[in-house]
Amino acid sequence: MPAISVRAPAKSILVGEHAVVYNRPAIAFPINQLQAKTTITAKVIGNPDEIEFHAPDINFHEKFSDLPKDHPYKIAVSIIKKEARIDHYPSCSVQINSKIPIASGMGSSAAIAVAIIKGLSQFIGLSLSKQRLADLAYQLELHYHGTPSGIDNTVIAFNQPILFNKEKGFHAIFPKSDLTILIANSGIQGNTKEAVLEVRAKWKIEQKKYEAIFDRIGQLVLNAEIAINTGDAINLGKIMSENHQLLTEIGVSIPQLDTMVEIALSSGAFGAKLSGGGLGGNMIALAPPELIEKVAENLRKAGIQQIFFEKIYKVENE
Ligand code: MEV
Repeated sequence: MPAISVRAPAKSILVGEHAVVYNRPAIAFPINQLQAKTTITAKVIGNPDEIEFHAPDINFHEKFSDLPKDHPYKIAVSIIKKEARIDHYPSCSVQINSKIPIASGMGSSAAIAVAIIKGLSQFIGLSLSKQRLADLAYQLELHYHGTPSGIDNTVIAFNQPILFNKEKGFHAIFPKSDLTILIANSGIQGNTKEAVLEVRAKWKIEQKKYEAIFDRIGQLVLNAEIAINTGDAINLGKIMSENHQLLTEIGVSIPQLDTMVEIALSSGAFGAKLSGGGLGGNMIALAPPELIEKVAENLRKAGIQQIFFEKIYKVENE
């Protein structure tokens, strides 16, 4: 029985979240050890549009026809039908699995959106460029995620470190040396949509102050790109820590994340910050390779259970 299986990675924002919603640049990278996966199996007996959806991780098993009109899976099928210019989708079973912690700032919803769009298109032989995949996943995200900047779906669809600007587009980043990163989930669920709305409400009241903070974050991102391009991990760490302070100023950090940042810094990390929407979710720390385990150990002692190690690898000759 014909079947296809596709994957999409998690993501992390190295610098620039929230300001990126206000047209400043941000840098993000994929986390390939955590992935969302879509597996689609043809149903031999079945009428067109007889589609089953299974998400066993959340005990979700539904037929396409029973889903409400605005359900993301239903919208995903409509997006693909429109793209392929077909009225009916072949009968099949769609299984969605994800190892990405939800509401953790690691791009779980964008990764699932990319994996579903990729799976549904490949299953009917519709070839999508990476940019088109990112765009269609963005359309899907818009339905249940407020007004995302587009950085998450882009870094996930392209699966490489990028500098992204909502207005100006994005380009790939080519690190001069390996970057050793630790990602620690606070265990407190963050809600990106809510965080973005809260920042918007405050920005409306104090536009001058917020614009100045976003300008500074935008400058930090440009400095971060130079640090990455020159292999200057010490400076990149400093930039990340300053970015955390600014995220605290706009009100998206929480005491647990501040404590995690302090632990990472006092354990020898070059820098640390919350990553993603905040109000919970994860912290990332950049550390010398020989100290990364010490950072993890001290976070574990403070009760942090979910820790991932990731490397952004240097790219030769760029
Ligand atoms: C989410 O990963 C990053 C935010 O900047 C929101 C967005 O860019 O859509 C908080």
